[in-house]
Amino acid sequence: MADIESTRLDSGIVALTLNRPDRMNALGQQLIAEFAGHLAELNRDPEVRILIIKANGRAFCAGADLKERAQMSEPQVAQFVSKLRSTFATLYQHNKITVAMIQGAALGGGLELALACDLRYAANQAKLGLTETRLAIIPGAGGTQLLPRLIGVAKAKEMIYSARVVNGTEAAQTGLVHASVPLAELESFTMQRVNAIAANGPIALAQAKKAIDMGIQGTLEEGLKIEQSCYAEIIPTQDRLEGLQAFREKRPPKYEGH
Ligand code: COA
Repeated sequence: MADIESTRLDSGIVALTLNRPDRMNALGQQLIAEFAGHLAELNRDPEVRILIIKANGRAFCAGADLKERAQMSEPQVAQFVSKLRSTFATLYQHNKITVAMIQGAALGGGLELALACDLRYAANQAKLGLTETRLAIIPGAGGTQLLPRLIGVAKAKEMIYSARVVNGTEAAQTGLVHASVPLAELESFTMQRVNAIAANGPIALAQAKKAIDMGIQGTLEEGLKIEQSCYAEIIPTQDRLEGLQAFREKRPPKYEGH
């Protein structure tokens, strides 16, 4: 059975489901290889607009597969962490909008996986933490960089140094996730948010993502230039004209992605 299940939903939405529930969806070599393959394929697929990362079982993802890790030599550990980092970097830079639906524990690399997504929705009782220092290691797949960018340096230092695990409700209060809801409502809540995004212009979504992610890395002046060049990509599109026409005709727009 595959470690990742890929399901096509409506309106260009694809769900990638982590499927190692007996190991709390821990990130093993096989799972990461499959995940990287799906990401590459979905990057090239013009029909896909939104990518949801979810999980089977009671955990979202318990981070690195510690049982597999115990069998690895030092060079193998370095190689695997490097693969993990590059895979999550691909996720962060993915040309689709990415959403993590966190129904249970997201620890270590499991939270880094969610941090690499654009949006995060969690169950109130989900457990989230970068717990690596408890194992005498550090977050190695983007966590030390993405967490402070998201919740601020002070809160990120406290979470990483103490390996503190927070629940979904607290995570929503600090901005670590966008919202938290009761577990029974998580799927419908996520789909409601995702469908609202999927109705919008796909080229606009991709360019907005690029403008935000690239712009935030430099000065405001550089960022505004990036925004200008992203806007320039949108001006010649059919979808832009469709948006104007639908407004004029008082009907919902139908965007085709060109
Ligand atoms: N790697 C490999 N196996 C893991 C795992 C991991 N990261 N996390 C959990 N498992 C396995 C357990 O060993 C157990 O297997 P077993 O039944 O053969 O003993 C099984 O998954 C169920 O885990 P268990 O701890 O019994 O479930 P739980 O519901 O009580 O707790 C977690 C779930 C996720 C909170 C807990 O397993 C945990 O803290 N895991 C480690 C998280 C971590 O430190 N990750 C690494 C960060 S770098």
